[in-house]
Amino acid sequence: SNQYLTLNNGRKMPIIGIGTWQAADKEVENAIDVALEAGYRHIDTAARYGNEHAIGRVLKRWLDAGKVKREELFIVTKLPPSANSPRDVDPIIKKSLADLQLDYVDMFLIHTPFSVVTNEDGSIKRDKDGLMIPDLTTNHAATWAEMEKLVAKGLAKSIGVSNFDKEQVGRLLKNCKIRPANNQIEHHVYLQQRDLVDFCKAEGIAITAYSPLGSRGIAKFNASFGMVRELPDLIDIPEVKAIAAAHGKTPAQVLLRWIIDTGCIAIPKSTNPGRLKENLNVFDFKLTQEEVAKLMALDKNFRVCDFTFFHGAEVHPEFRFKNQYTN
Ligand code: A2P
Repeated sequence: SNQYLTLNNGRKMPIIGIGTWQAADKEVENAIDVALEAGYRHIDTAARYGNEHAIGRVLKRWLDAGKVKREELFIVTKLPPSANSPRDVDPIIKKSLADLQLDYVDMFLIHTPFSVVTNEDGSIKRDKDGLMIPDLTTNHAATWAEMEKLVAKGLAKSIGVSNFDKEQVGRLLKNCKIRPANNQIEHHVYLQQRDLVDFCKAEGIAITAYSPLGSRGIAKFNASFGMVRELPDLIDIPEVKAIAAAHGKTPAQVLLRWIIDTGCIAIPKSTNPGRLKENLNVFDFKLTQEEVAKLMALDKNFRVCDFTFFHGAEVHPEFRFKNQYTN
């Protein structure tokens, strides 16, 4: 049931993975178990999500029981924004590997193109409103040089970035020995970022779409910072529903198929067994050119994960995320 996209280093990455942001320990353990059973082999996590140890427990069970081989799995994790400096790279991946109970990850990403200010003990510093504070001194090129060493050490098979815009990717390309294999960005019918996606593809950088279904879950996360925003429900878009009906598929499957048919990878998050299966069951149909064009026309430049939970984010030079809902 899996299909793969070949990365710029020849490695194959499963086109559908399971996203795990905002999946609590018990919930994620069960979800990973169900996902592996359903045939998922690509798991996306991050130190920042705090669930690597739970995922590691499931992976260990499956590997020890011989139900899956390590080389069949594609495990992605990320260098957290609170540890984005060159000296953090090596100890951080080793901590992630220990939690995941693995010798290597398949993909290691720089989670964000900016860092957050930390306390002496490495914990994230908060301002009086509980918001995180961006650090203005991030040097991507220096951090990337350390990322490259992980490949030589065999700790990461591939390396990449996340949340990088065109200029940030371009700067890295000018300063690297190993080109990034992947840029993981928010990408769905309401936030298509064609410019960035086309640029990355032309440079041989695979795009992974996070929040491919529009991430309803983020409303809860934002609310924990006192931010309430009305979010559109992508699965209720009439055009998406009509295309789904024409294929006998669900709106979620159409949203995922659009990502696949435009050459990207998707990591829908679910902890629900039925929806997990549904999200992987997208390889038995294809959108017509006309349908792809209809979905392309839905773009609103609407960013769900706009990082407004960072204090001063809007003035950070590396921080260009702006919510530009234009409808
Ligand atoms: P749940 O975990 O209860 O399934 P995204 O991947 O864009 O961040 O979206 C994840 C959100 O969408 C979660 O709230 C998830 O809830 C829900 N979701 C995941 N798969 C589906 C689906 N096939 N249909 C409807 N909602 C889904």
